[in-house]
Amino acid sequence: MKVLVTGGSGFIGAATVSALLARGHDVVNVDLQPAVHGEKYYAVDVTDSDALQAVFQEERPQRVVHLAAHISVPASVANPQMDMEQNIGGSLSVFEACRKFGVDRVLFASSAAVYGDAATPPIGEDAPVVPMSPYGISKRSVEQYLIGFYKQWFSYAIFRYGNVYGPRQSAEGGAVIAKFIEGVTRHGRIEVYGDGTQVRDFVHVEDVARANALAIEQDGSFLLNLGSGIPVSVNDLIDVLRSLVSTSFEVVQKPPRPGDIHSSYYDVTGVKNILQWAPKISLSTGLEQLLRRAAQ
Ligand SMILES: NC(=O)c1ccc[n+]([C@@H]2O[C@H](COP(=O)([O-])OP(=O)(O)OC[C@H]3O[C@@H](n4cnc5c(N)ncnc54)[C@H](O)[C@@H]3O)[C@@H](O)[C@H]2O)c1
Repeated sequence: MKVLVTGGSGFIGAATVSALLARGHDVVNVDLQPAVHGEKYYAVDVTDSDALQAVFQEERPQRVVHLAAHISVPASVANPQMDMEQNIGGSLSVFEACRKFGVDRVLFASSAAVYGDAATPPIGEDAPVVPMSPYGISKRSVEQYLIGFYKQWFSYAIFRYGNVYGPRQSAEGGAVIAKFIEGVTRHGRIEVYGDGTQVRDFVHVEDVARANALAIEQDGSFLLNLGSGIPVSVNDLIDVLRSLVSTSFEVVQKPPRPGDIHSSYYDVTGVKNILQWAPKISLSTGLEQLLRRAAQ
């Protein structure tokens, strides 16, 4: 089927485009950055409704995977209006194009940021939703537009991704694994905020891309957490890295960052039952792959 992916040149987007192409779909990518896999590509800003609707008119996609967004929690804190315009405004521009041109299903990339720190892990989809940053608030708002309003025109698949990691992730966005790989391979040192006991749910981008492809092929509406379901502390991460590299590296402790959630990992029963999906790439395999790429 014809699937339009917004943000298809980004970290999760390029992996998703690759998974969709491998499954035989006709893929159109709308992004500000050039396409990675040679798919049909439009350099259009999703907040520009007229330009976006012209793409939909030309391409007539059946389904849409909406990933384009700004992804920085600190940037949203510094500039909530920018966050609202990009992440709520951009999403509504995409959904209006979907409504106007008869798209029958939309996948939306939400985040663990919607839970804030009110939920006790393992976090299920029924945990309290109390986002603390403009980024989390706008992700929650967009979920509600789909669940409460746009469902009249198209079905939705909403994923609240955990900490996605893997090839092509930028270390500049603050992603801990990307920063650690760069630190270990280039600088011989990594920085840890706090005592390293904080826990996260890491999931490999190729597993996420496979879930995205499975979800866009289905029909019923759902909202699901997408992660490994495995709690991994920053200290665990460092232990795995030490077991994989032959050279030594220094661990520099920094003060904890205000507002950081201590422990966040998912109950992934929902996605296992509904999509028959489970992650295939273990943390050590994923880290080994990244170390090998960094050495090339
Ligand atoms: N990476 C994670 O761990 C994670 C976790 C939770 C949610 N998400 C969500 O997943 C989605 C993809 O994230 P990512 O990590 O791949 O980020 P990314 O920055 O690598 O990719 C985003 C892509 O969107 C494009 N884009 C941004 N604004 C645009 C606009 N206005 N018009 C057109 N294109 C635009 C960018 O050029 C980029 O290619 C985002 O919605 C993000 O909020 C990511």
